[in-house]
Amino acid sequence: MDKVILSGIKPTDAPHIGNYIGMIRPALQLAAAHKNVYLFNADYHALNMMRDPKALKHHSYQIAACFLALGLDPGKTVFYNQSDIPEIFELTQMLCSVTPKGLMDRAHSYKASVDKNREEGRDVDADINMGLYTYPILMTADILVAQAELIPVGKDQVQHVEFARDIAGYFNNTFSPVFKLPEYKLEETGGAILPGLDGRKMSKSYGNHIPVFMDSKARRKLVMKIVTDSKLPAESKNPDDNVIFQLYSHFAGSNEVAAMRADFERGGMGYGDAKQKLFEALELTFEKPTQLYNDYMADTRKIDELLAAGAEKARKVARETLSAAREAVGLKALR
Ligand code: TRP
Repeated sequence: MDKVILSGIKPTDAPHIGNYIGMIRPALQLAAAHKNVYLFNADYHALNMMRDPKALKHHSYQIAACFLALGLDPGKTVFYNQSDIPEIFELTQMLCSVTPKGLMDRAHSYKASVDKNREEGRDVDADINMGLYTYPILMTADILVAQAELIPVGKDQVQHVEFARDIAGYFNNTFSPVFKLPEYKLEETGGAILPGLDGRKMSKSYGNHIPVFMDSKARRKLVMKIVTDSKLPAESKNPDDNVIFQLYSHFAGSNEVAAMRADFERGGMGYGDAKQKLFEALELTFEKPTQLYNDYMADTRKIDELLAAGAEKARKVARETLSAAREAVGLKALR
């Protein structure tokens, strides 16, 4: 039997090509290559920091449209909204009762918030809500409710999966072995950081990002904005400190990448030509998906339908798990 693989994505803003390489593409590849994959929109996780209901709704649709437009097959991958699986939240409450407070105190993300408050001379608990504090328990419930065994993660999420394993162990040892113990799988390509238009890390907050979904004209205009030095086309250039080449290397085939490297090193490859090549590679990857994305976003009923079907599948497993957990602690099984 194939292992159950599960991943959640927080609904933040419209994705940029850095998110695509670091997180979206690896998730799509896993989903295409394996049978039992669960992928969900982690909307309740986002609620810890979002206060604009319209934005939460919009970003949730964006996440769904993004994955669908880029080729996720919802017939093959179980694709759903976290908030459509109430079993997750009942399980969260149950897991709270076997989770030591000290474990949450040690969570990196919570500690980072405390440290930041301390540094800024504020009350250590300022702006820290209980959702943030118990975030790892909710994430544990996401994982355990689906009996997931393998969680693909970037470095920042490793501790969360270790916590999930710990908490599953506490429960199993205290009551009876209801839960599979999940493992994390550190994604090699995942977590890759791409440079932005100005050479700093690509980030929406720096305004140096290239969105995944945009029309071709706008995409070309952005690519042409990439900052370069003033070397002439004939001069030899180091591809490794060159944003155009670095981006190109993620989107073009290995032969094309090798050719651009050689052209830069030899001299004779001007920045304008290289930008045109990068633009073409991005078009090849994103032009069609952009049309699909726009279609999904123009009429979100299709997304609602697909996510509802996904939730139905996820809830089957979730109910079984929750029922077993309820019985294990001395509550009535679900029927
Ligand atoms: N915490 C993850 C993130 O911030 C998102 C997430 C929520 C998740 N639940 C999950 C990831 C379960 C993997 C498994 O990126």
